[in-house]
Amino acid sequence: MIAPGKDEPVRIETIVVPDPGPGEAVVRVQACGVCHTDLHYKQGGINDDFPFLLGHEAAGVVESVGDDVTDVAPGDFVILNWRAVCGKCRACLRGRPWYCFDTHNAKQRMTLTDGTELSPALGIGAFAEKTLVAAGQCTKVDPAVAPEVAGLLGCGVMAGIGAAINTGSVGRGDSVAVIGCGGVGDAAVAGARLAGAAKIIAVDIDDRKLDTARSMGATHTVNSRETDPVEAIRELTGGFGADVVIEAVGRPETYRQAFYARDLAGTVVLVGVPTPEMKLELPLLDVFGRGGALKSSWYGDCLPSRDFPMLIDLHLQGRLDLGAFVTETIQLDEVEKAFERMHRGDVLRSVVVL
Ligand code: APR
Ligand code: ZN
Ligand code: ZN
Repeated sequence: MIAPGKDEPVRIETIVVPDPGPGEAVVRVQACGVCHTDLHYKQGGINDDFPFLLGHEAAGVVESVGDDVTDVAPGDFVILNWRAVCGKCRACLRGRPWYCFDTHNAKQRMTLTDGTELSPALGIGAFAEKTLVAAGQCTKVDPAVAPEVAGLLGCGVMAGIGAAINTGSVGRGDSVAVIGCGGVGDAAVAGARLAGAAKIIAVDIDDRKLDTARSMGATHTVNSRETDPVEAIRELTGGFGADVVIEAVGRPETYRQAFYARDLAGTVVLVGVPTPEMKLELPLLDVFGRGGALKSSWYGDCLPSRDFPMLIDLHLQGRLDLGAFVTETIQLDEVEKAFERMHRGDVLRSVVVL
């Protein structure tokens, strides 16, 4: 599925996927979720390297691998991730590969039949029957899981779960507030439940979202159109504020709410991505006077080789319901409609099955 130019409708085209070179793999895609970032690519909000090959939340089966690839082999069931980390840079060596300076995604060579080079979304491009990626972008997981469920760990759901369990280090008995309960926020709720949080307070401006958050594990809900969420979170936590507050909207007012809704020694985890012009003014005395930590979370600070198989195992054991994030499965030619539904807030995830 190609985004041919700024704001033009997406369309299906025949593409040429070359054989994998050294360090590369060709993956037969089985499922790929529709994410806001795909829409941003289509709208020209990321860069102008049209045409884009969209799709980046994917799972499938390795079809062929290049010379020297030993970690994955043809036939392996894998989840794709958008950063193949180097394992050698300062960030990798310090155990923070999510900040890797030298990612090794495949140098893209996929084209249209007339030779036009394609730019695969986030180095993946998986709204396609096959795609070329770096072998390091493939993580093997238990093939018993449905592909449409597995693929979701490739982006938004991992970002949310990871915000809770990796960045926020939510612990047993903690109180957690999640501001913004779309796909990412709901995944943070599920992550907080998984980590044993005692109280999980979901905040949103849309009651439908709060109902879903409850089904994901929220113990309390606050509609922040009607109620001041900072006051409500304090009240629900004995006057202190939450141990961990996760912001999953990306707006100044919700960043502010997150800042003030935490316990003095609590942690704020910022997952929502703001736009360049957004600013937030805070009294310095409030910044100084509050201890704790202010952290941003990149891709859930995940380590795919550690986190993907673990979360799939928990799902297969019935301890984490990743299937709850799949609102509908669709065909490739329904992506445009899925963008509209996503825009209206009607779905958590539409997943293309191939
Ligand atoms: N206060 C509370 N909730 C809000 C507010 C607000 N002022 N404004 C919007 N929301 C809610 C929406 O109702 C919706 O439920 O935030 C949620 C956002 O969800 P989605 O649009 O589905 O976005 P999602 O995919 O969850 O991503 C959220 O995380 O990774 C980032 O780039 C991503 O910035 C985005 C954020
Ligand atoms: Zn590195
Ligand atoms: Zn995404």
